[in-house]
Amino acid sequence: MVFERVAVRTFRNIVRVDFEPVSGMNVIVGENGQGKTSLLEALYFGATSRSFRTDRAGDMIQQGAGAASVRMRVAERGIRREQTAGLGPQRRLLAIDGVVASTAAGYATRTPVVVFCPGDLGLAVGGAAERRRLLDRLALFAHPETVGFRSRYARAMKERQEALSRRGTGARELDAFEAVAGECGARLTEARGEAAARLAEAAVVAFRGVGAPGLDLALVYRPGGSVLREEFVEELARRRGRDARSKVSGYGPQRDDLELTLSGRGVRRLASQGQQRAVALGLKLAELECVRLCRGVQPILLLDDVSSELDDNRVRAIYGHLGEWEGQVFVSTARGEGVDFAEVGRRGRADWVMVGGSLSRRV
Ligand SMILES: Nc1ncnc2c1ncn2[C@@H]1O[C@H](COP(=O)(O)OP(=O)(O)OP(=O)(O)O)[C@@H](O)[C@H]1O
Ligand SMILES: [Mg+2]
Repeated sequence: MVFERVAVRTFRNIVRVDFEPVSGMNVIVGENGQGKTSLLEALYFGATSRSFRTDRAGDMIQQGAGAASVRMRVAERGIRREQTAGLGPQRRLLAIDGVVASTAAGYATRTPVVVFCPGDLGLAVGGAAERRRLLDRLALFAHPETVGFRSRYARAMKERQEALSRRGTGARELDAFEAVAGECGARLTEARGEAAARLAEAAVVAFRGVGAPGLDLALVYRPGGSVLREEFVEELARRRGRDARSKVSGYGPQRDDLELTLSGRGVRRLASQGQQRAVALGLKLAELECVRLCRGVQPILLLDDVSSELDDNRVRAIYGHLGEWEGQVFVSTARGEGVDFAEVGRRGRADWVMVGGSLSRRV
């Protein structure tokens, strides 16, 4: 899986970039604020129709411009396709070989991309929402329909909450909302549980490569709801009074978490900072492995500035891991020569320089 040619238009500070990355390692060097993350974000947007740094899609459109777009030629096992992701103020347009994609999930699973960014280092200790997002990204590849369950669940729960606050626990429409929420919530819980099991297996292996020797990582999915539809629906009905008073629901996948332990000790409260980062890296490498297994191709890897947040040993561990990586990689760094990528990129390397939103190849 390779991006062969990429055209970015009015995306963040990039007015126009056209480039042909190499199939191995692409290193993007630039000072702060020049557009390195924006370029990686553009690649991610072109492949998935989403951003990895914001939920507000409109932020990706260049200020003063009406729309942003990324067009790319993707090669998968020798077969080429043209993908276009466009973003206007109101809508997104996604097309593969000129045919409009019917769902964003279908579009996003065609070209698997995994991104590492400095924020991911909080994956082990930050809020559970990040870990749920990780599970959802994995579930997407195994069961693309999960996206629909998630949005229908959220809508039904919002309507239930509104009905509770306006008309009380006896409101007649509650049964219907809870039936939908129970159905979709149970399916989402099941998909996340499955994703967590795959992630756990891969994370144990990945952690050995980046973690402290002698420590074992364990990962357990703690669902906030149930995989059983009836149980889910009954529980929602039972909790009406409580949920009305607290104005949020205390039951369901919005409460899911992944419990992480290192040799029996909770990572969040008891692990050292270095260990917490190693766990986060282990999780990201496990994500990469799960997507690879699920999709049957090497995902394209985007590494945004990870070297700035990690000590040299850890950086070496990542690049050591990448030395065996057969897929295409994009690395951004402000440190330039500070990082030695010599052993990496057996399949060729190109260096690119980003200045004020313009990209040029360094020779
Ligand atoms: N919608 C937008 N329109 C125009 N410019 C934007 C938009 N969003 C962000 N920018 C600007 O784009 C510039 C590049 O940001 P980016 O995050 O890509 O930099 P970077 O090279 O990754 O820097 P750093 O090394 O500090 O991470 C910044 O000056 C930022 O303020
Ligand atoms: Mg950046």
